[in-house]
Amino acid sequence: TRVFVPRDSAACSVGADEVAERISASGAVEVVRTGSRGMLWLEPLVEVETAAGRIGYGPVAPEEVDGLIAGGMLDGAGDSLGLVEELPWMKRQQRLTFERVGVVDPLSTADYETHGGMSGLRKALTMAPADVVETVVDSGLRGRGGAGFPTGIKWRTVLGAEADIKFVCCNADEGDSGTYADRMLIEGDPFTLIEGMTIAAYAVGAAEGYVYLRSEYPDAVATLTDAIARARDEGWLGPDILGSGFGFDLHVRVGAGAYICGEETSMLESLEGKRGMVRAKPPIPALEGLFGRPTVVNNVLSLATVPTILANGAAAYAAYGTGRSLGTSVFQLGGNVARGGIVETAFGITLGELVNDFGGGTSSGRPVRAVQVGGPLGAYLPVEQFDLPMDYEAFAAAGAMVGHGGIVVFDETVDMAAMARFAFEFCAAESCGKCTPCRVGAVRGVETIDRIVADEDRTQNLVLLEDLCELMTDGSLCAMGGLTPMPVRSAVRHFGEDFTA
Ligand code: NAI
Ligand code: SF4
Repeated sequence: TRVFVPRDSAACSVGADEVAERISASGAVEVVRTGSRGMLWLEPLVEVETAAGRIGYGPVAPEEVDGLIAGGMLDGAGDSLGLVEELPWMKRQQRLTFERVGVVDPLSTADYETHGGMSGLRKALTMAPADVVETVVDSGLRGRGGAGFPTGIKWRTVLGAEADIKFVCCNADEGDSGTYADRMLIEGDPFTLIEGMTIAAYAVGAAEGYVYLRSEYPDAVATLTDAIARARDEGWLGPDILGSGFGFDLHVRVGAGAYICGEETSMLESLEGKRGMVRAKPPIPALEGLFGRPTVVNNVLSLATVPTILANGAAAYAAYGTGRSLGTSVFQLGGNVARGGIVETAFGITLGELVNDFGGGTSSGRPVRAVQVGGPLGAYLPVEQFDLPMDYEAFAAAGAMVGHGGIVVFDETVDMAAMARFAFEFCAAESCGKCTPCRVGAVRGVETIDRIVADEDRTQNLVLLEDLCELMTDGSLCAMGGLTPMPVRSAVRHFGEDFTA
């Protein structure tokens, strides 16, 4: 019998290692460590292979293991959740980027190939680089880091740039609060990222790549470093990939805890060994990036989606989604939510479906009051906007952003003035200090909200706050200062009653 237990750090934080040890100790079973399916409230989730499919048990506490085995767990019997793939949470999703996460052993190259891995790269290597770029353009894939810039168009710029050397850099500095999809992908299916980066390198003519990974993700660092070594052993990386004559190699660089190093130019400075300060754009990194050379900078999820696009064609990917938001997105439910975790579905699903149908409302049982979408710089949305479809343009029209797909839920006890104040505090702490609207504006913002809440010249200070937001939006050099007003303004607009003494 094969039994699957996640080795994902979210699962391990609630005892998955101990559960795996106890199952191993029981005797004649092979325990396979996988990534997490993303149903975090069921972790540690144990899956048992049967003729009908994998039967799930969860959450399983270490001390429950012996009882479950006595009840027939190793034959798929006893008190189970049923077939994991048939659980409503899984069945309603369209997993393309996360197809293998939670299914395969993340460090098994054999498992990877058995489950469709490497077919995207094999296909790409039979095509002209420009055709690979056009396939990604045609798929409609947009940057999943948050800005939503078309990935293929960015690659076209890098392909067209003349240079002695080009780079592919993966931004894995997943700093947004409430986001963890990059981490789960790297811990659960790292070869997909490696394959996606290799396809990108082939498409634009790069020979070297870097993954900039945050230090807060030690398990992801270990998994990815191991996976890169195994990929080299298989000839999936190196001077002659799969006998094609094309060469590319990959290195991991670990950040030091600054949120601003997730901004692409700041990340490039950090990769070059300097302090993470934002560079003025233009020049864009696609033309002058790492060490001044043309560089693809893409988020983990953008790159990890490329293999499925190449393997199954642009049209198959573009068949999902709505308007100009094509394909699927990996949404992450967190905060005060009953069922938190990963939901990969086509764009167009509504915010309410995600929070209520998937998330099951709040974990406190109180009514939902606000939802912050897109990280600490994203807007707070009230329940009245739950019919908003997850779509870059629809969110922008509502004064909000989809961002990296993080959704953080708050119940009726939330103090929205405190949340607005926190946005400024966060900006003050994480600002790189290069430009005045952000460096000084964030501090003035905290003070202004304190005065409003203390009822000091309330009307005048509300006008001042709006003035400050306008200045930061228009005058900041990067998204850090430029987007901090978004949560602030949305809090004032939708929850104005909280801004009183
Ligand atoms: P941006 O709109 O300036 O750029 C988006 C991307 O397109 C960049 O890579 C840029 O270099 C590229 N680009 C622009 N014009 C191009 C052209 N003509 N040719 C080729 N490439 C071109 O946005 P930015 O400042 O990079 O990102 C802001 C977003 O980051 C926010 O919307 C927010 O959602 C997101 N964000 C994500 C975080 C995370 O942890 N994932 C954290 C904080 C913010
Ligand atoms: Fe630095 Fe803030 Fe200016 Fe961005 S907006 S460059 S983080 S000071």
